[in-house]
Amino acid sequence: MGKLKEKQLNLFWRDRFKKTKNPISAVYHADKPDWYNYFFHKQKLKIFDSIISKINIKKTYKVLDIGCGYGFFSEKINKSVDEVFAIDIVDEIIKYNKKNASPGINYFAMSATSLKFQDNLFDLSFSLMSLQHLPNSLKLKAISEICRVTKNKGYILLIESIKPEEKSAHVFPLSYDSWVEAFEMNHAKLQLVYGAEYNYLLRFAGKFFSKFQTKQSLIANSNATSLISYFKKILKDIILRFLIGISYLTEPLSRIIFKPSNAHRCAFLFKVSK
Ligand SMILES: C[S@@+](CC[C@H](N)C(=O)[O-])C[C@H]1O[C@@H](n2cnc3c(N)ncnc32)[C@H](O)[C@@H]1O
Repeated sequence: MGKLKEKQLNLFWRDRFKKTKNPISAVYHADKPDWYNYFFHKQKLKIFDSIISKINIKKTYKVLDIGCGYGFFSEKINKSVDEVFAIDIVDEIIKYNKKNASPGINYFAMSATSLKFQDNLFDLSFSLMSLQHLPNSLKLKAISEICRVTKNKGYILLIESIKPEEKSAHVFPLSYDSWVEAFEMNHAKLQLVYGAEYNYLLRFAGKFFSKFQTKQSLIANSNATSLISYFKKILKDIILRFLIGISYLTEPLSRIIFKPSNAHRCAFLFKVSK
């Protein structure tokens, strides 16, 4: 059963990478425009930097990126350390990354549920929006693997959805408490947590956009495109761009005002204590 689910996961991501031209959109909301996805990417980069700045990263650190996708974050951390290992379940994306890799990054096609690394190898392991895509039984297997390969006193960084009610065909979020519990069961203690993606208005706009797009394609299919639908499209675009614009301001503000558990995602930093 586990093997079958992993095969389906692999096929889903292979298909996503093949069909989505923009690498950033491929790992976020593939049905939305690239400029919409840049917002989420920039927020993730900021949070990643803030958390990394709290760890006293040494050049000698060995780092593991789990579910690396196009390796944006492997490339980023590679500037601070000598050696980065990055894994992903999709063979094709690993082959692509290998061709474009900076010196110091080693890409491998493998599943997070069965890491082909010795125990206690990494000083820092991270999964950014990858574990949330594993069904729960596979997720727990992957968490125990990540803790196994991370050194005692090493760090584990996660950025994952904390809204189980937003479960879908390929997203299986845990609640805030369940993420913490799953890592604590594997001897990793929570050190720091940041909220990310608080913006409810933006999420609502995203859903509205998807519905609108479906309607538009139905109209287009019936060849009944009109001036009104053209203006509606422009209006929708302006509204979304406006909401994205204000979200650049409200996101950092929300991080100050609201608790991390009120956010849509959380960045968790754990320290291993075996
Ligand atoms: C949303 S993307 C995130 C990519 C990258 N971490 C980033 O933030 O840019 C999720 C990634 O997890 C990978 N993935 C899914 N299941 C996996 C598994 N069992 N083992 C390793 N990688 C997996 C997918 O192929 C995909 O590249």
